[in-house]
Amino acid sequence: MTTAAPLIGLIDLAVATGHHVVDLGDLAVATGVDPAKYHVGIGQDQMSVLAPDEDIVTMAASAAAPIIERHGAERIRTVLFATESGIDQSKAAGVYVHQLLGLPSGCRVVELKQACYGATAGLQAALGMVARNPQEQVLLIAADNARYDVDSPAEATQGAGAVAMLIGTDPALLAIEPVTGVHTADVDDFWRPNDRSTAVVDGRLSVTAYVDSLLGAWDDYRAHGGLDADEIDRFCLHQPFTRMAAKAFKQLTQHTGVSRDDTAIASTFAYNRRVGNSYTASLYLALAAVLDTEADVAGRRIGFFSYGSGSVGEFFTGVVQPGYRAALRPGAVMAQLDARVPLDVPAYRKIHAGAVLPSETDAKNPHVTTAPYRFAGIVGRARRYEHTSS
Ligand code: HMG
Repeated sequence: MTTAAPLIGLIDLAVATGHHVVDLGDLAVATGVDPAKYHVGIGQDQMSVLAPDEDIVTMAASAAAPIIERHGAERIRTVLFATESGIDQSKAAGVYVHQLLGLPSGCRVVELKQACYGATAGLQAALGMVARNPQEQVLLIAADNARYDVDSPAEATQGAGAVAMLIGTDPALLAIEPVTGVHTADVDDFWRPNDRSTAVVDGRLSVTAYVDSLLGAWDDYRAHGGLDADEIDRFCLHQPFTRMAAKAFKQLTQHTGVSRDDTAIASTFAYNRRVGNSYTASLYLALAAVLDTEADVAGRRIGFFSYGSGSVGEFFTGVVQPGYRAALRPGAVMAQLDARVPLDVPAYRKIHAGAVLPSETDAKNPHVTTAPYRFAGIVGRARRYEHTSS
C-alpha cells in the first residue's frame, strides 16, 4: 500500500511595502500625461516609494517578522531571498534579515535572481527541500524596489514591496500542485547592467515577450499533464502593471479556447494597483489580494504565471485550503497602504535621485520610516540595519 505524499505549500504569507506613496494622478499632471493613461491604460493608481532608510532588507524583515512571531523559527532551516534589486554583489540580503529576525545559526541563507521570476524559483526549490525532509520549513522572501529612469514611459510602473512566505507541510493557505510548465528564451526586453541603478527596458518588446512566455509556459504545462483552463478558478499573472495581466489573460483565453469572465482575474489586482511593480513580489502580492479580498475561495484552484524578463516564465497551480481565512491577517495590507505618507512629484524625484548610497564613505540615514526595521547607514563600507525601537 502506498501512502499519499503530504501536501506542501504556503503555511503563511505576509506583506510589507514602502513608507511613501506617489499618486499617479499627480505624476500625470507633472509630466503632461492624461491621468486616464495610467488609471485605465496601464491600470495603476499609485506607486510605493521607499524612504531613504528603507530597502529590500527592511521590507523583507518587516514582512517576515509577523510570520516568525506566529510560528517560531525552530523548523526553519533555509531562508531564500529572491530579488533583482540586490544591495551587494556577494553577500545575500537574507543574511541581514536572518540577523534582524534573530533566526537560529543552524540555517542556510541564499539569494536568488532571475528578474521577476526569482521568487518562483525559490518556491520550487523550497517545495523540493520540504519534500526531502517534511520536518523542515523554508522562509521564502520576495522583495524588490522597482526603479526606472524618470521621464521615461516606465516611470509610472515603479513600486516597492516584499512578500514573505512560510513553506512547509500542512499548508494552511495554499497547497502547491506538482505539475508546472516552464519557458526560457534569451530576449533583451528588460535588464539592469551592474553599473546602473535603474532598469534598461524595451517596453514594447517586453509586452510581447511576456505574452510569448505565458503561452509557451502554458503549452509546456499542458504537455506535462496540466489541467484544462476551465478547471482553474482564478488566474494570478505577474503584474508589472495590472493591465498587462488583463491583456495577457485575454490572450490566454483565446489560446486555450476557454472564455472566462472577470471574476477569474479581477480580485488579483487589488493590491498591485496601489503598490506598483514590486517585481518578484508582485505575483505573490496578487495572491495575497485574492485571499484577503474575496469572501471565500476555499477549495478553489489558482493558476499562477510567473514572468521574469530576459526571460523565464512558469505556469503552475495551487489549491486554497479549507479554513484558510483563519491564517490571514484581515485588513493588514490595506492598513499599510492607507498609512503610507504621500510625496509630491518633486519630493519623490529627490528621493529617486539619491537612492544609491555610495559605499566609500560612512553615512547616517535620516530616520524617516515607521517600519520595525531601518537601514541606518554605512559604516566601514558595510550596511548597518537596526530595529526602529533600538
Ligand atoms: P507607453 O509606451 O508610454 O504607453 O508605456 P502606451 O502608449 O503603450 O500606452 C499604454 C496603454 O495606455 C495603451 O493601451 C494605450 O492605448 C493606453 P493598449 O493599447 O496597450 O491597450 N492609453 C490610454 N488609455 C486611456 N486613456 C488615455 C490613454 N492613453 C494611452 N488617455 C510601457 C507602456 C509598458 C511600454 C511602459 O510602461 C514600460 O516600459 N513599462 C516597463 C516595462 C514593463 O512593465 N513591461 C511589462 C512586461 S515585462 C515584465 O512584466 C517584467 C518586469 O516586471 C521586469 C522583470 O521581470 O523583472 C517589467
